[in-house]
Amino acid sequence: MPVTYPAYLHLDRLLDLQHPRSEPAEHDEMLFIVIHQVYELWFKQLLHETDKLRADLGQGDLYGAVSVLKRMRMVMKTLVGQLDILETMTPLSFASFRDRLDTASGFQSSQFRELEFAFGYKRAALARAGSPIPETAALARRLGEPSVVDRLYDFLARRGVPVPDELLHPDPEAPSRPSEAMQEQLLQLYRTQPELVFLFEALLDFDEGIQEWRYRHVKLVERTIGAKQGTGGSGGMEFLKQSLFKPIFADLWAVRHRM
Ligand code: HEM
Repeated sequence: MPVTYPAYLHLDRLLDLQHPRSEPAEHDEMLFIVIHQVYELWFKQLLHETDKLRADLGQGDLYGAVSVLKRMRMVMKTLVGQLDILETMTPLSFASFRDRLDTASGFQSSQFRELEFAFGYKRAALARAGSPIPETAALARRLGEPSVVDRLYDFLARRGVPVPDELLHPDPEAPSRPSEAMQEQLLQLYRTQPELVFLFEALLDFDEGIQEWRYRHVKLVERTIGAKQGTGGSGGMEFLKQSLFKPIFADLWAVRHRM
């Protein structure tokens, strides 16, 4: 039997995974489900690419790292663009099925947190007992793994850059922190090593993509539920605003006015 398109993609299972909870069915609930499922698939792809990025940096493969980052940036742009579709749903339409979500919220997306952890924005409490995230096994695994930022420092050290010792041997469960000593090195590298500039700018592109997503998500939340509390139990918009403009590669942002 030749492999067919539906069999290869397991379409029977994939297309049987959308189950609106509203009765009678509210038209927009299907969109709400589909878009979140698509996001989770893209998160899965981003994690897959992130693993390659870390491996490339670990092996000193500059071109591999830059090309994977270029792809991740395009995925990020698609993620941001998809919010436009959800913004065609009015507040009234969302309100018609919102209580059916009960406590469900993107806040509980384990893959989104995995992505944050993999890029160094680690918060150990989210991976432990009592976490608001229902499934923590994958997150707990990521917590102990080196982040992309850690791998970046290893990569630079292998190329002879004097990376401060505490950055080369970090507490694996702690979030990445800015380092003034590292910023001096980066400035130097921007001036003297053009091939590394490609890597730094590609990292910055992805970082900006995540910040763009956070901003567009907050605006989506504002126009759809205004100041209402989140279904995940947070203050909603005000809570989400706290993570706006928080960079992943703080050192790369910190040096720009000095160039
Ligand atoms: C009508 C559409 C949406 C509304 C009203 C909404 C609302 C919210 C609210 C209020 C929060 C804060 C946590 C809480 O629930 O208390 C939140 C968090 C979150 N949402 Fe949405 N959201 C929407 C669409 C989406 C979509 C399409 C995604 C894509 C996966 C998403 C992913 C997330 C993530 C990852 C968080 C956690 C953010 C963080 O803690 O930094 N949301 N959302």
